[in-house]
Amino acid sequence: MRTLAILAQKGGSGKSTLAMSLAVAAERDGKRVAVFDLDPQASTTFWKDIRQSDHPAVASCQSARLGYLLKAAEEACDLAIIDAPPFSKDIAYEAAQLSDFILIPTKPAILDVMSMTKTLELVSHYRKQAAVVLTFCPVQGREVGDIEASIRKMGATVCPIRIHHRVAHPRAQQTGLTALELEPEGKAADELQRLYSYVCINLWSVSRAAA
Ligand SMILES: Nc1ncnc2c1ncn2[C@@H]1O[C@H](COP(=O)(O)OP(=O)(O)OP(=O)(O)O)[C@@H](O)[C@H]1O
Ligand SMILES: [Mg+2]
Repeated sequence: MRTLAILAQKGGSGKSTLAMSLAVAAERDGKRVAVFDLDPQASTTFWKDIRQSDHPAVASCQSARLGYLLKAAEEACDLAIIDAPPFSKDIAYEAAQLSDFILIPTKPAILDVMSMTKTLELVSHYRKQAAVVLTFCPVQGREVGDIEASIRKMGATVCPIRIHHRVAHPRAQQTGLTALELEPEGKAADELQRLYSYVCINLWSVSRAAA
C-alpha cells in the first residue's frame, strides 16, 4: 500500500476536493482505496455520508490513531489518502511522517504561497517527496506562471498539472459525487485524471526504487 498525504496550512485550498477526487480516480483505475479524514470539520466524511456508494472508503479519525489505522489497512488497500486539516502543525507532521508522497494544494496568490512555508519545512524535515499543486487557477491571465516561478524559488517542486477554478467541483459535491463522475468528459475531470496519473508516477516509482 502507498500513502498520499494532502496537506496545506491554509484553509480552503482544495485539499478535501483533491482527496475525494483522487480517491474516485483510483477506484476507477481498479485500486482499493481508503481515505483518512483527519479534519474535525469532516468535509470528506460528510461528502461520503451523502454519497450513494460504498466506495471509496472514508474514515474520520484522530491523527494519534493514523499510524495504527494505516497498518490495519495495509493488506486491504492499494492506496491510502490522508486529508489533513488546515492550521494544524501537529497533525500535518503526523500525516507527513506516514506518507510516501505529499501534495500541497495552494491558490495562485502570493499570500497563500507565503503561508506554505511551514508545510515545506515539514516536507524537508522528513525528506519526503512532495509537489505543490496550484488550485483555483483562473482560466486566463499570466499570474499563475509568475506564482509557479516563486514556488520554485522556494525550492519546491511544482506539479505540472494546474487545477482551474471550475464550478463542476462544488456542484458534484452537492450529491456526494466528484467532477469525474458528474461531468466525465469535462475539463475539471480531465485535470483530475491527469493529476491522478502524476500522483501514481510519484507513488509507485518511489515504491519500485525501494523494492
Ligand atoms: N478547483 C476548484 N474550483 C472551484 N471550486 C473548488 C475547487 N476546489 C475546491 N472547490 C470548492 O471550494 C471549497 C473548499 O474546497 P475544499 O473543502 O476542498 O478545501 P480544503 O482545503 O479542504 O478546505 P479546509 O481547509 O477547510 O479543509 C469547496 O466548496 C469546494 O467545492
Ligand atoms: Mg478540507
